[in-house]
Amino acid sequence: MFSILTWIQAILAILVLNYVVSSIRFSRKYKLPNVVPGWPLIGNTLDVPYPAGMWGVKMAKKYGEMYLSLHACNMGSPADKSNRFTLNIGGRRLVYLNSSRVVTELLEKRASIYSSRPHRPMLQDIMSAGARIVFMGYTDQWRSQRKIMHSILNSTQAEKKFVPFQDLEAKQLVYEIFKDPENYHKAGQRFSNSVILSVIFGRRARKDDELLRFIMQYTATLGDYQFNPLKSPADVFTKLEYLPKPLQWWRPFGESFCEKHVAIFQKENDKLEEKIRAGTAKPCFAVEVIEGAARREFNISDIEKIYTWTSLIEAGSDTSRVAILQMVAGAACYPEWAKKAREALDQVCGAKAERMPSLGDRAQIPYISAVVKETLRWRPFLQSGVPHTLTQNDEFEGYKFPAGTEFSWNAYAIALNEEEYKDPMRFDPDRFMNDDLKSIAKGHWAFGAGRRTCVGLNVGANNLWIAAACILYCFDIEQDPMKDHPIDQLNTLWEEPLHAPFHVKLSPRSQAHIELIESSGAFALSADY
Ligand code: HEM
Repeated sequence: MFSILTWIQAILAILVLNYVVSSIRFSRKYKLPNVVPGWPLIGNTLDVPYPAGMWGVKMAKKYGEMYLSLHACNMGSPADKSNRFTLNIGGRRLVYLNSSRVVTELLEKRASIYSSRPHRPMLQDIMSAGARIVFMGYTDQWRSQRKIMHSILNSTQAEKKFVPFQDLEAKQLVYEIFKDPENYHKAGQRFSNSVILSVIFGRRARKDDELLRFIMQYTATLGDYQFNPLKSPADVFTKLEYLPKPLQWWRPFGESFCEKHVAIFQKENDKLEEKIRAGTAKPCFAVEVIEGAARREFNISDIEKIYTWTSLIEAGSDTSRVAILQMVAGAACYPEWAKKAREALDQVCGAKAERMPSLGDRAQIPYISAVVKETLRWRPFLQSGVPHTLTQNDEFEGYKFPAGTEFSWNAYAIALNEEEYKDPMRFDPDRFMNDDLKSIAKGHWAFGAGRRTCVGLNVGANNLWIAAACILYCFDIEQDPMKDHPIDQLNTLWEEPLHAPFHVKLSPRSQAHIELIESSGAFALSADY
């Protein structure tokens, strides 16, 4: 009779043999770029700091040309001197692309197979009812939601319907900065939230807005579950989803998160439907979807409608908020360009505060469009990009990638690479004063790549344009010599919503500017819808 110990030894031996054989098979079949060494099983999961931008820059420099052996589930081969490195995150393979050339070759030119998302059983299936577009695979459901979003948010529609919201909110933005400059970050947050609520639900943000308060809480939780592997083990080791449901200790939290979320957005949806019936609803995204679905123009379920509203609000508010902060930091750290921007604004709006800039001025003030692009290039706030999943095996320049490998543009590494941008640390809008100026996503990767490129980019770019124009027109922006001086341009968590991420002096330019800020601010404050 075999003892229990012998059985255990036999099982372990089989597991090890199985691991060795499948590793050898894997390495014969596939050829991956350089590998960052990590820990068995969990790979680099615990090595990646947050924020990860500078770590990514360091890794790109260190491993771009190194030969490494692999571990756990990822078997590679000696790499050439290519500008890529491979990460082994849990059971996942994540290849970071460190140059615009490879991002273009793979994520853009081969977008038909490089556009899915990693499988996230907790984040997507449980917490998001499988309906949140940002975490969705490259499926028919994704195509259908994306088509609806694009048909309402494309540049023509964004111009016609949403520009008035943005012009109005920008007036309140500068008014609030003037009244409480220490809390400039809160003014930017209110602006971004109120624009996106107007775009989606046709209503402004209220003081102490219940929906916004709720969004603030849950986006922090979503972020936690997105980036913290300890919170969301099923998303790291996806095989855990096959455990019987009662053993999935993460599931009850995920289900209750989803229920609460649907309930609060349903309430907002119901209020809007009431306004539609009363004939008082403003033209906005949700009205178009509800009416389009009633006419059977859009094929969208009730739960998908809810997640369409929430996905757009989530993706569309914080991005603009952080971009505005970055523009302010850029102006404080490199005042030369802010001076140039102001001269361009003065030529059109008058040097004596004759009128507030508006989005109608874009053609006459191209320099502000360059400011928008440089803000997005300078310190991309999705510092390591967003992973796209490969849906079938692929070969590229000698490499053989298995389906399921994830690829991300290494945003910081590309943005700060001297071979990509001259003097990359510097905030210099002039680098974008070229024939591509009007193509807002060209020349940087801040809006992503290929078929997953940001669907709200027209709204996002216009937000940043009008916020930058009004702030630069109304205020002198300087670093504060008494506090946080100089501003840390590389390691600041600029996405922190509650506290000012850096100290900065925002002083109105003149008495005439104060009067303009106050009069247009009074008008904005009184507008209610
Ligand atoms: C400055 C502002 C913005 C920036 C920098 C930005 C950036 C991004 C990035 C990097 C992605 C991922 C792209 C990829 O995976 O390749 C993305 C996706 C997305 N963005 Fe934006 N975004 C901004 C504003 C907005 C706005 C205003 C909206 C809504 C009106 C929006 C809606 C979305 C949605 C729904 C997705 C998911 C698309 C998909 O998965 O197919 N974004 N955005």
